[in-house]
Amino acid sequence: MLPLRRAFLAVRGRQCRLYSTPNNGNARKGLVLGVYEEGEDCSFRLTETAAGFDKALSGKLSDLLKISGPALKKGKNRIFYGLHEDFPFVAVLGLGKKNAGVCGAENWDTCKENIRAAMSAGCRLLQDLEVNHVEVDSCDDAQSAAEGAILGLFQYDQLKSKKKTKVITQLCGSGDMAGWEKGILYGEGQNLARLLMEAPANHITPTVFADTIEEKLALYAEHVAVHKRPQAWIEEQQMGAFLSVSKGSEEPPVFLELHYNGCPDNTQAPLLLVGKGITFDSGGISLKPSSGMDAMRADMGGAATVCASIVTAAALKLPINIVGLAPLCENMPSGKANKPGDVVKAKNGKTIQVDNTDAEGRLILADALCYAHTFNPRAIVNIATLTGAMDVALGSAATGVFTNSDWLWEQLHKASVVTGDRVWRMPLYQHYTRQVTDSQLADLNNIGKYSRSGGACTAAAFLREFVTATHWAHLDIAGVMSNKDEVPYLRKGMSGRPTRTLVEFASRLASKT
Ligand code: BES
Ligand code: MG
Ligand code: ZN
Repeated sequence: MLPLRRAFLAVRGRQCRLYSTPNNGNARKGLVLGVYEEGEDCSFRLTETAAGFDKALSGKLSDLLKISGPALKKGKNRIFYGLHEDFPFVAVLGLGKKNAGVCGAENWDTCKENIRAAMSAGCRLLQDLEVNHVEVDSCDDAQSAAEGAILGLFQYDQLKSKKKTKVITQLCGSGDMAGWEKGILYGEGQNLARLLMEAPANHITPTVFADTIEEKLALYAEHVAVHKRPQAWIEEQQMGAFLSVSKGSEEPPVFLELHYNGCPDNTQAPLLLVGKGITFDSGGISLKPSSGMDAMRADMGGAATVCASIVTAAALKLPINIVGLAPLCENMPSGKANKPGDVVKAKNGKTIQVDNTDAEGRLILADALCYAHTFNPRAIVNIATLTGAMDVALGSAATGVFTNSDWLWEQLHKASVVTGDRVWRMPLYQHYTRQVTDSQLADLNNIGKYSRSGGACTAAAFLREFVTATHWAHLDIAGVMSNKDEVPYLRKGMSGRPTRTLVEFASRLASKT
């Protein structure tokens, strides 16, 4: 046992951010290890960490894996009990082929995705066994391993009496601690977005949303300013389109404005992130069908991912300036609500005929985009659960990106290959613009004149009418809003996608300055 003790004691002594109770007598300890497939003959190759563990046990782990064959394919697992006195629970997960790397057809790094999926599954298996302290194999990519662990363990059970076992995760071995901690922050960032999206609309109102983000950012007060703009400010700004949506609800609107100044050069033009913040979308007078309407509590997914990305950028101390904007309100039917055919005026003076009150996202974003331009930004990226048509087009495989900038597309795409939270480019043709600029009463109509056809594209064309910036992208995240079982490392529920891609994108921009 001595070599093993030596190898693993270093780990236990180490101060990990989440590791608060070393040698806690009540700890049920587990270990999650990875194993690669090798060759065609069902043989396997242990990761470096797993090999160290195996060596300390005089090859017992390899023996058991051989006995319990067939070899562990990707996604398969074995659990061994009582293999070692310090780790009564050991989960071994199949990682697929080593060096699978970036796949051109899939637009992601298969190796990273496999690690996320495996470490997520391993942690969940042990959590189900009420193991409350898990050491995780870095699988030679500590960031991906940490992301998998943190994302996999997340469950929104705040409102249930019976909760899942709280698991403390820790990097196994004295590996790449910086990568591990970065992965924890990326994962926690996405989990913050998931929490906000999953929470019921009577809990996360516009006011509560803004207060929650303010609280999260209080930790980084030195570099952050938070403005919770009230209704009077929104009126002064002449955001008539935003106000027309919010006036149907009893809940007051909030225009949330976040400034993260991480760049030592304070004069650097900021990256502008704008998120749709409809805390509940009933459709308004153009009421949605009741079946599945509960999912519209997540119609603030744009605001959630934007704000969570900024919280993460601050936690990572990224050397970049970011301004985050989130128009927050409910879309409700009432005696004061927008009516089909009403005409409203946006901040830039353009008039909009509201033929469908359920196309409310583009109304609130129109004003937010006008305001975004006042910061002289280097780029504007808006994120919104904008259209059901986006879900029809791509499903949950990728976020749709509509952009006027090849450069911005490339940056977002590169970031998404690394995170595995993919993006796919969509068209911004004049063809679609013509369908929203042909309005009976106003400059624009809030729905395309051929109603359902190309719905995601007409919505994007509508937004473009409020953009003059050279680098602008609109991300329609309606398709990736929730997860059933498509992303293997996320449990069922609101996904918080594509927070990690936004963070990675910002981090890459930061390193270029
Ligand atoms: N929030 C919805 C879009 C949505 C649908 C997001 C499903 C996530 C899942 C948006 O406000 C909406 O209602 N869009 C309408 C637009 C239509 C009226 C032109 C839609 O997609 O049906
Ligand atoms: Mg709607
Ligand atoms: Zn909506």
